[in-house]
Amino acid sequence: MALNLKCIGEKVGPFTKEYDHKDVILYALGVGAGFSDLQYCYEKDLKVLPSFSIASIFETLADFAIKAEVNLAGILHGEQDLIFHNPIPPEGTLTTNGQIKNIYDKGRDKGALVIGESETFHSNGQKLYTSIFSLFCRLDGGFEGEKTPKTKLTFPQRDPDFIVEETPRVDQPLIYRLSGDIFPLHADPKFAKASGFEKPIMHGLCTHGFACRALISELIPGEPDKARRMACRFASTLYPGVVIKTLIWKTSEGKAVWKVVNAETDDIIINNGIFEYGNIPKDEIRFDNRVAIVTGAGAGLGRVYALELAARGAKVVVNDYGGSPDGTGGGLGDNASSPAQMVVDQIKEAGGEAVANTDNVASPEGGENIVKTAVDVFGTVDILINNAGILRDKSFVKMDPAHWEAVLGVHLSGAYNVTRPAFKIMKEKGYGRIIMTTSAAGLYGNFGQTNYSSAKLALVGLMNTLKLEGQKYDIKVNTVAPLAASRLTKGIMPDEIFEKSKPEYVMPMTLYLCSDRCPVTGNIYNAGMGFFNRAAIFTSPGAVVGDMDQLPDADAISAKIKQISNLKNAKEYFQLNDQVMDLLTSLESPPQDVADNDNEDTNLKFGSPAAVFEAMPGLFKSDAAAGIDVVFQYIISGKGAGDWYCAIKDSACEIKPARHDKPTCTLKMDSPDFLAMMNGKITPMQAYSSGKLVIEGDIMKSQLIEKLFKL
Ligand code: NAI
Repeated sequence: MALNLKCIGEKVGPFTKEYDHKDVILYALGVGAGFSDLQYCYEKDLKVLPSFSIASIFETLADFAIKAEVNLAGILHGEQDLIFHNPIPPEGTLTTNGQIKNIYDKGRDKGALVIGESETFHSNGQKLYTSIFSLFCRLDGGFEGEKTPKTKLTFPQRDPDFIVEETPRVDQPLIYRLSGDIFPLHADPKFAKASGFEKPIMHGLCTHGFACRALISELIPGEPDKARRMACRFASTLYPGVVIKTLIWKTSEGKAVWKVVNAETDDIIINNGIFEYGNIPKDEIRFDNRVAIVTGAGAGLGRVYALELAARGAKVVVNDYGGSPDGTGGGLGDNASSPAQMVVDQIKEAGGEAVANTDNVASPEGGENIVKTAVDVFGTVDILINNAGILRDKSFVKMDPAHWEAVLGVHLSGAYNVTRPAFKIMKEKGYGRIIMTTSAAGLYGNFGQTNYSSAKLALVGLMNTLKLEGQKYDIKVNTVAPLAASRLTKGIMPDEIFEKSKPEYVMPMTLYLCSDRCPVTGNIYNAGMGFFNRAAIFTSPGAVVGDMDQLPDADAISAKIKQISNLKNAKEYFQLNDQVMDLLTSLESPPQDVADNDNEDTNLKFGSPAAVFEAMPGLFKSDAAAGIDVVFQYIISGKGAGDWYCAIKDSACEIKPARHDKPTCTLKMDSPDFLAMMNGKITPMQAYSSGKLVIEGDIMKSQLIEKLFKL
């Protein structure tokens, strides 16, 4: 019977199981615990072996196989990954919900792999563990399906740090089977003979339990609750009564790799073991079994994203073309010292999984190849962070086509080139997280960066439509506008800001948006120095000018411009249709006119620009001004107009109603807008982004105003 490939994505369960201390102790005895491990076998201060989790969900595995319509005569447990979120209490009810994640084809005579994932919750409300497993279906290969991803765990080239030798009892399977796996192969000599074995064999998961005890005894003695992850591949069979050795290598703090061998033959019984341990952070965001691509991950922000994704369990494609900040000199190929390879080495040293890719995002072939690397090595792609970037700043007239095209090529076409093949896979699998990297230069404008700001805001346009196309496939597309110290910002950012803007301050937002937990799509977040906010496009209620009989003209616009521009009750639209619907409704029922005095507020702190500057010396924070030497020039137009400057030097502030001959930056505003800002009705960022505040000169230094004054 052919496999049911349509079952991918289908839910399995829920399954519930009540258990108490007797089940916990029976399991522990089944995996070799005894007086030497009394904590697992005696109800007084009973501790639960983390691998007990598998006994509690064992019965669910059959349902995955049945749903996938595999040939039950040929199934074996292939790989098992357990991620522990909270300690397992000694009694209660467990509820498990699962999903079939994928089916891979190993070839006609080689079989198929069904990948399932489940989450188990305790009756106390806590999520206890996630199980990711593969069922190896020997008789179901050759359906021309997706190939199995290649994964290889490298063991250190040295003797193990710990070797735990044990001898399972000759009748061990007879005890173990009472925890759930009653398959006759482990109990019935006749059945075992008919299946080609001399006698009943050990359950692979029983040996797994022996390994779990061994890992805890060496790495977290007496503290099974500190186990965070236990993953492995079942490699060959074992007869009960044969001596086994669990070989353990500590690879970094909180991480070890392990295998179990037959001590008589050296045959590997369980391979590719990973064990992670430490205090279990409450509900940590994890990326286990997720495959992530990070472009431009050889340096700066991308490198930090890749390291943290891998540290939280993702398999990462570290892409970087190399080269200088303006994009020249890239194409280092598979050079061992390429930036991408160096990040991969760092991930692997810490026990993570990653592969380097040195393709150029700016070409369609490069984009295809980056995604192909993810598929060839890890089998799929779940997360894509479009991060690669270069700069070629010039004032607009000097911005020749080469500068323009190079920057649009890497940022905009680069994101298109990688996202398109990745999006295809995400659509097929019904899951994806995509990040675009924009910039404040694109969102708000920045002198000398027409190429960069055009490319960066175009990425917001790409997100806006992609979020709609991905919506029904659980593909979430969001955008981050970072502010971080990197080679791109060195020399551009003021030194004091550069020193405090590690990419690590941006990374948490990007990782959150890449996670299963991210509920939003189509959002833009500013992130830097530990400050996060959302940027969005708002649309004013507007005004109807003219009607069907009378065309609007420029004079009528002039008369209504205040109402058209007024952002009071402004709305954010999710898509074009929503905005068009509102437009049609507004034609039928026009928004109310804004009265001329609508913005006036008699209860303001400052009534005039002069009052603001009179108050400013009292608002100055001299303790925040050490080492700062700046002059802010204000040019205020309209009612109460005037020029004032604030000169700050040697932790002192001088304010004068005049023009300074060498201001660090000049801030130009209309009096009502200036008063609205100083009275806290709008933020400086809102004033700046809506064009009410124009800043000339060193824009970055203008950000010091908020730090220097109690406004
Ligand atoms: P970075 O220069 O440290 O890292 C960018 C990486 O992209 C480099 O390793 C570079 O080799 C790689 N790259 C360049 N062109 C490539 C190509 N064609 N194919 C593949 N890789 C390529 O810069 P940083 O600051 O980490 O920038 C990361 C992203 O964040 C960029 O998109 C940048 O525009 C954006 N950004 C950064 C800001 C900041 O404050 N650092 C501010 C706003 C946006």
